[in-house]
Amino acid sequence: MKICCIGAGYVGGPTMAMIASKCPEVTVTVVDINAERIAGWNSGTLPIFEPGLEEMVALQRGKNLFFSTDVNDTIRDSDVIFISVNTPTKTYGVGAGRAADLRFVESCARQIAEVSDSDKIVVEKSTIPVRTAQSIKRILDASSHNGAKFQVLSNPEFLAEGTAMEDLEAPDRVLIGGETTEEGLAAVGKLVDLYAHWVPRERILTTNLWSSELSKLTANAFLAQRISSINSISALCEATGADVDEVAHAIGQDSRIGPKFLKSSVGFGGSCFQKDILNLVYLCEHFGLPEVANYWQQVVEMNDYQKRRFTQRMLDAMFNTVSHKRIAILGYAFKKDTNDTRESAAIYVCRDLLEEQAHLAIYDLKVPASEIYETLGVFEDDDRVEVCDNAYSAADGAHAVAILTEWDAFKNLDYTRIYNSMPKPAFLFDGRNLLDIPALQEIGFEASGIGK
Ligand code: NAD
Ligand code: UGA
Repeated sequence: MKICCIGAGYVGGPTMAMIASKCPEVTVTVVDINAERIAGWNSGTLPIFEPGLEEMVALQRGKNLFFSTDVNDTIRDSDVIFISVNTPTKTYGVGAGRAADLRFVESCARQIAEVSDSDKIVVEKSTIPVRTAQSIKRILDASSHNGAKFQVLSNPEFLAEGTAMEDLEAPDRVLIGGETTEEGLAAVGKLVDLYAHWVPRERILTTNLWSSELSKLTANAFLAQRISSINSISALCEATGADVDEVAHAIGQDSRIGPKFLKSSVGFGGSCFQKDILNLVYLCEHFGLPEVANYWQQVVEMNDYQKRRFTQRMLDAMFNTVSHKRIAILGYAFKKDTNDTRESAAIYVCRDLLEEQAHLAIYDLKVPASEIYETLGVFEDDDRVEVCDNAYSAADGAHAVAILTEWDAFKNLDYTRIYNSMPKPAFLFDGRNLLDIPALQEIGFEASGIGK
């Protein structure tokens, strides 16, 4: 079997590396229009950071895993084509700010139809609105001119960044949706056999196309909803003296609730939660279900509130002004163990602090300085933003330290040294509930966490 994956991003790269590693007889080629990204995948410095990824790519690349910009030839040469391109929130026209922008998916479908001269299985790996497979199928069938026939499958990806390789190696489930025709079932069977190389059969779920597509949006909406729910309670904890970690632990012991995704934070980030919920909201409106749309919209609004509330708390504590005060920002990625900053809560907090004329000293373990400047919309010579290469230099002379990503390294810093390098009173705002607040207060910090 020859596989082509269109899109060499956070999903395409790791997913295909895992398939290549587990299925040595299969040839996997990942293609992208972004030549710089492909060059990165072919170099010693991969374009994305993900624990365990570099080692796996190093083992497979050149054997049965290839990265290329030659999209047309790779499509033509493949039996199965995964579409793993970005599906961001639309920024223009009808549905702007909510609907998914499907132009990259559509252009893949047109290109596949254009160049294919043999039958193909086309797999939606990107997260897309329910019923997109229908549009893809129509485009494929209408634009095909070489007699090639296409089967469209939905195979959404559930990996989380930072744990992508573990998630891919031992997924809770693999979901495959297809048409219930004879050809559709045969195509589903081929993809099931591929995953069955390493995933137990009982974890490979097969459904109709629409259930598979909708399950992906629903899974992300449920996960994000749990975070917004616990974050809403964190505000009440702060008002009442309850401790949100204690509340989360107590409710998580109930086996019907469970302990995961109850960590209160400065707000969820990442490229998908917000985008996918907005997409769900838009779909509900489209199908005439305003009550359902409003219900899910609240999850995003609670998250926006949580991000704003964090900066407001900093201001309240710091005598209502941070103007010209140096503030150390520890962590800029949207979660630990990734270099991804898309929709990171840190971006919002930093922008709000800049509005208040703060001076920021930012340190992250994996995010390059250029990306920090770019996402904040400031030039590298802007003296309001300094990117530091360690936590101690960021904190040196700062009025406050704000922890915005839960990097493990921040747990083991010498906080006494940090405290001694700061003007007093020295503030510490733990946006990830990573640290022991009473211990910090013992050192002398005016310290607070989320929901504490
Ligand atoms: P990404 O932006 O990292 O990668 C997408 C890649 O597709 C880019 O490199 C882009 O250049 C390429 N591309 C776009 N149009 C192309 C075309 N016509 N031909 C060739 N290449 C093209 O995106 P991602 O984070 O990998 O996400 C991809 C999809 O997977 C999205 O729909 C996302 O919602 C979904 N998803 C993401 C994650 C995640 O953790 N990031 C997890 C599950 C699902
Ligand atoms: C999420 C889902 O977990 C994946 O299953 C899904 O495939 C993916 O979205 C996607 O579709 O893109 P990801 O965004 O990579 O994965 O990472 P998560 O671990 O879900 O974290 C998302 C955000 O929520 C992060 O900012 C994280 O810090 C925050 N979070 C997570 C909390 O604030 N509290 C928690 O308890 C868990």
